[in-house]
Amino acid sequence: MSIDFTKDIGFDKELTSPTFVSEDDGEVSLRPQTLSEYIGQEKAKGNLKVFIEAAKKRQEPLDHVLLHGPPGLGKTTLASIIANEMGVNIRKTSGPAIEKPKDLAALLTNLNDNDILFVDEIHRMNRSVEEILYPAMEDNEIDIIIGQGPSANSIRLELKKFTLIGATTRSGQLSAPLRDRFGVILKLELYEPEALQKIIERSAGLLKIEIDKGGSMEIAKRSRGTPRIANRMLRRVRDFAQVCADGVITREVADDALNRLEIDHLGLDAIDRRLLTGIIVNYGGGPVGLETLAATINEESITIEDVYEPFLLQQGFLTRTPRGRCATRLAYEHLGIPFDAEPSRVKGVIDGQQKMDI
Ligand code: ADE
Repeated sequence: MSIDFTKDIGFDKELTSPTFVSEDDGEVSLRPQTLSEYIGQEKAKGNLKVFIEAAKKRQEPLDHVLLHGPPGLGKTTLASIIANEMGVNIRKTSGPAIEKPKDLAALLTNLNDNDILFVDEIHRMNRSVEEILYPAMEDNEIDIIIGQGPSANSIRLELKKFTLIGATTRSGQLSAPLRDRFGVILKLELYEPEALQKIIERSAGLLKIEIDKGGSMEIAKRSRGTPRIANRMLRRVRDFAQVCADGVITREVADDALNRLEIDHLGLDAIDRRLLTGIIVNYGGGPVGLETLAATINEESITIEDVYEPFLLQQGFLTRTPRGRCATRLAYEHLGIPFDAEPSRVKGVIDGQQKMDI
């Protein structure tokens, strides 16, 4: 049984945004149910297998697990898989959804033996709620205050043994006392194209989409290392294949569809290009501070940090320095801007390119 308390946490509905949960996700579940179905993340998966087997042998709940990494990599999926593999119930909520200590107390006191409580965006939980978690994680008990003022009383409640699985895109924002109470900390990495290709082929099979190797690799290379984006692109490319071709996704069909969606051959979308171009045109390639950059391209700084930067850093288009963000030579080359051009000429190059795009 799974009860989902998660609020809609998407803040952006771009095709390439890993935070946007597609409206048609309910169509056929593409989520793997077991570790053997889960493709990629070999390091995290290998360790997890051992911890799960050991906990099961001892007939104990799994130690508390923290999953961290960029959005869209399968943290929620992995939490459900852990519950499945352990043979226990999972309850899902998110940091911002737990507004008061009593909300968390209600969740915790309703757990059964060995159940899993999954808290997405755990870094956004407020401090008064977080403090309830410490004794719950450590000693399976909570102290709740009944009443107010001089007549207030504190009572201690025993909890069933449980596992907390926290997920976060920003482990650095977790307080040290909370982070220290997780026995297992797993970092999820952006996927390599080969792993994404396998995920796309698996999803295409489930959705009964015809796709060849060239088609799946083309989508894989352009999905910014993120399964959620790969699956969403697969559905949109299928639309083009059905309307503009014979229904089969080949490399050419995928290339044409993704070009029309303004996703370039390395998976950068219009916002990625605006971000890099902004650094180059307005700040001579950087360094520029995050807040200044966010204001320049009219995006939230948190979106830049969580959604755009991980991929641009991994691909070597961007560097972070103590003085701010810099565009790399690779970024100039990718955008077709001469690396050693005078700043005054760069704007001319960009204007020329935009005229050509039109
Ligand atoms: N769908 C989304 N992520 C997946 C993964 N890691 N393995 C298999 N299917 C997936």
